[in-house]
Amino acid sequence: MEAKITAIGTYAPEKVIDNHYFESFLDTSDEWIRTRTGITERRYSADNEYTSDLSIAAVKNLAARYGKTISDVDFILVATVTHDQIMPSMASQLQYRLNIPNAAALDISAACAGFGYGLTLARSLIRSGMYRKILLVGAETLTKVTDFEDRTSCILFGDGAGALLIEAADKGNIGECIAGAEGSGGQELYLSTQATQVNGTPIKANNKIVQNGRAVFRWAVTRMSEMFEAVVEKNGLTKEDIDWFIPHSANMRIIEAICRQVGFPVEKSLESLSRFGNTSSASIPLALDEAVRDGRVKKGDKLLMLGFGGGLTYAGTVVEWGL
Ligand code: UT7
Repeated sequence: MEAKITAIGTYAPEKVIDNHYFESFLDTSDEWIRTRTGITERRYSADNEYTSDLSIAAVKNLAARYGKTISDVDFILVATVTHDQIMPSMASQLQYRLNIPNAAALDISAACAGFGYGLTLARSLIRSGMYRKILLVGAETLTKVTDFEDRTSCILFGDGAGALLIEAADKGNIGECIAGAEGSGGQELYLSTQATQVNGTPIKANNKIVQNGRAVFRWAVTRMSEMFEAVVEKNGLTKEDIDWFIPHSANMRIIEAICRQVGFPVEKSLESLSRFGNTSSASIPLALDEAVRDGRVKKGDKLLMLGFGGGLTYAGTVVEWGL
């Protein structure tokens, strides 16, 4: 059997935070944030609103649009780095709270590449013949682990969630996937609760995201440009076949640089960062769903999705949109 996406849903918290918010307590400006990142606003979860709540809201949105039952889902995958708690997993909580009795439940820890890893795993689980209906969620409450004293990172992050239903079908629409990691760059982007070193480099164990922005920027442009070409080629396509490029939304300048590097029109890329900031594993489904809803993404369009992030990790595939 092949893997086919049969429904999508998303959710973002109500509270909108614009760039001027940061001007009151940091040496920064709306102009710097807009021109250096492309972000104009982002959403913040409420104090008592956690990643599981955002995930459930995204799945309820999906279920309403799907119109059939999701209680027969047999595997739940949740990509996140902001679990409500490490144990039980987010996927287990969803299994209980969404009343899906016979599902396996597993969280994916691959940072901003989590959604790409999820697509890779979901496709493999279905192609193995062992599972038939998979719920894949990418959800984050990054603002709960944001260091608001670090002006280089706190202006970036936002909260959100996206979900896909992926089912067994004779004709699938998730193409060949590539996933990988460069653990040697682990110290460039981390969130540590205990350890005070990575790769021999001292790190802060303060339960906040710490990022060497310039290093990650350079790595992302180089690696994602290579990934763009590798994923397209692995699917027997050329870049002219790609209707929409949906990279992880980290920085508009990264997206522009990748497009320049590979010779792909930036107008054919989709982003969620201008309105939602960097939402890690939720950024690709948020960008996709907005374009699905407003009609830019049409049935039959070929979508190149590339995730990259802490780890350092990366994962991508081509989807032929079928809804
Ligand atoms: O999602 C996971 C993957 N993450 C990423 O892909 C993030 C990749 N990195 C980035 O997006 C960018 O590197 C940042 C947005 C984090 C920073 O942008 P940048 O253009 O790389 O800035 P920079 O770090 O090179 O800093 C340039 C200047 C510095 O000042 P000096 O040293 O030139 O005087 C910074 O101190 O901008 C300063 N700066 C700021 N100024 C005003 C840094 N942050 C701010 C700020 N407001 N918020």
